[in-house]
Amino acid sequence: MNKTTFRVFKQLSASCYIGGTTIGKRLSITRSVVWKCIQQLQHDYYVPIKSSAAKGYKLVHTLPLINIDAVQEILFNQSCEIDYLLSVNSTNAYLQEKQLSKSYHICIAEHQKLGKGRFNRLWQSPFAQNIYCSIKTVLEKDVSELSGLSLAIAVIVAKSLSYCFQDLKVQLKWPNDVYISAKKVSGNIVEVKAESNFDSQVIIGIGINVNMLTEETIDQKWSSIALELDNQIVDRTLLLKDLLKRLLSGLKNFEKNGFSDFLKNFVEFDFLNEKDILLTLPNNDVLLGRYDGVSELGQLKLDINGSIKLFASGEASINKKSSC
Ligand code: BTN
Repeated sequence: MNKTTFRVFKQLSASCYIGGTTIGKRLSITRSVVWKCIQQLQHDYYVPIKSSAAKGYKLVHTLPLINIDAVQEILFNQSCEIDYLLSVNSTNAYLQEKQLSKSYHICIAEHQKLGKGRFNRLWQSPFAQNIYCSIKTVLEKDVSELSGLSLAIAVIVAKSLSYCFQDLKVQLKWPNDVYISAKKVSGNIVEVKAESNFDSQVIIGIGINVNMLTEETIDQKWSSIALELDNQIVDRTLLLKDLLKRLLSGLKNFEKNGFSDFLKNFVEFDFLNEKDILLTLPNNDVLLGRYDGVSELGQLKLDINGSIKLFASGEASINKKSSC
């Protein structure tokens, strides 16, 4: 986001309208530049803005930015580098380019142009509404031991959301979707590079829909924390602080004991528990069976006519046609 557009954004509030002329005077720019910035904020950054010919511009709801100093404070005793960006293509792609000089390199952005989702989907990332966060580190584990990592991350996110928003019932849908009211609010993506037989470099990217109230292009059932709390805009900084604390200690646990340390919590949050499901495999084959939980390695256990089969990847959904 360029400087002028950001300065125009900072002039907007949700409590009262401000005219284009006033913004222009305050920032020493013309009304037509103000107008262009507003267009950009609306169409490129998905900032919800109300326009009135008579009154000017106003945010549809408050959009407080992340307080990155407060986030940094809680990580003061960790060997950790943090980059906070107003906009980036993808926080994961950003960290791909970076050399690791401390134990962790974290990238937090207010907006992503090309947020990466699973199965090459785009992760919708409007400005100043959600959490887009990636963390790069080296785990003392062989690549073959990382199969349960994305499930462990989902458990960490679910625990953080349940702790911060105690009225919400958070659930996990294998492998790593975080659900509320049967709708997705968070996902994560793990990119792995082997460094040796004992070390793997990982980039973990987490997206959480926090204050997003509208989005027309997402092609699956989604929700956000604010939507689940009757449109109450919540503090992303508090959530991010809690999440990062849990994430760093959770990664240490994973390094020591693998997914088995997280399995009990996964079961507590499990959305598919005792459901008949459809499992779409990466080759698009669809299998029907009874969900039988997850293994110590994070694989889905599917009961197909009494025989249990294990799956490491795929997409699961509840089989609504089933009579059970
Ligand atoms: C999914 O499809 O469930 C995974 C979504 C992961 C999105 C996050 S947002 C921060 C990080 N940067 C990306 O480009 N993707 C991940």
